[in-house]
Amino acid sequence: MKIGVFGTGMVGNAIATKLVALGHDVKMGSRTADNAKAADWVKANGARASQGTFADAAAFGELLFNCTSGAQSLAVLQSAGAKAMAGKVLVDVSNPLDFSKGMPPSLTVCNTDSVAEQIQRAFPDTKVVKALNTTNANVMVNPSLLPGDHDMFVCGNDAGAKGKVTELLKGGFGWKTVHDLGGITSARAQEMFVVFWVHLYGALQTPMFNVHVVR
Ligand SMILES: NC(=O)c1ccc[n+]([C@@H]2O[C@H](COP(=O)([O-])OP(=O)(O)OC[C@H]3O[C@@H](n4cnc5c(N)ncnc54)[C@H](OP(=O)(O)O)[C@@H]3O)[C@@H](O)[C@H]2O)c1
Repeated sequence: MKIGVFGTGMVGNAIATKLVALGHDVKMGSRTADNAKAADWVKANGARASQGTFADAAAFGELLFNCTSGAQSLAVLQSAGAKAMAGKVLVDVSNPLDFSKGMPPSLTVCNTDSVAEQIQRAFPDTKVVKALNTTNANVMVNPSLLPGDHDMFVCGNDAGAKGKVTELLKGGFGWKTVHDLGGITSARAQEMFVVFWVHLYGALQTPMFNVHVVR
């Protein structure tokens, strides 16, 4: 499948690398067509890897991943263009972290709204699925780095889109347990979880952890 990954940071890199390893053709998008981090990624990942602007990645992908800074994601996707994203599934991995007042960060949107909802409202013809934002980038694409059973969460308004993303998370990325939290408003919970995640990170002094729901 052709997949567009918006983002040249560690999340975009980890997800794009995993997708190429799974046999997909991946275009990494950035503000500039010749972004140096994307160029390094292309060099390291062979013929299935390419780079371009956010608009190029949007036009290329049948499936899209938003791995950009949450506070900037709406602007990024607006630059990519609604037309190029229409009818496609967009996996939103972003967190709306605000580091402007230092650590710990606050959120640029929360409680009664979320980045994923903002995106879904701005792009009604795109099927937004919130996923993967609750773990470190390395764990996202390789859950077996941690011992035992631990969990991933998804939400979104389109059942078919959530089904496809869940299939990729389980069959491709190796997640055993994926909880469907419901419609896109549940992205508030997934995004606000990152505040708890940051405090756990501080307490544990490592990003290599996750949570498991027992009942
Ligand atoms: N790091 C993790 O382990 C982790 C885990 C869970 C969720 N997340 C979330 O995943 C997302 C990506 O995280 P990351 O650490 O890989 O990278 P990041 O530094 O948060 O984001 C990098 C991307 O954001 C774009 N960007 C930054 N500022 C921008 C601006 N002013 N206007 C337009 N685009 C801008 C960059 O564009 P250019 O390519 O043009 O520079 C780049 O592609 C974030 O929302 C983060 O909160 C991260």
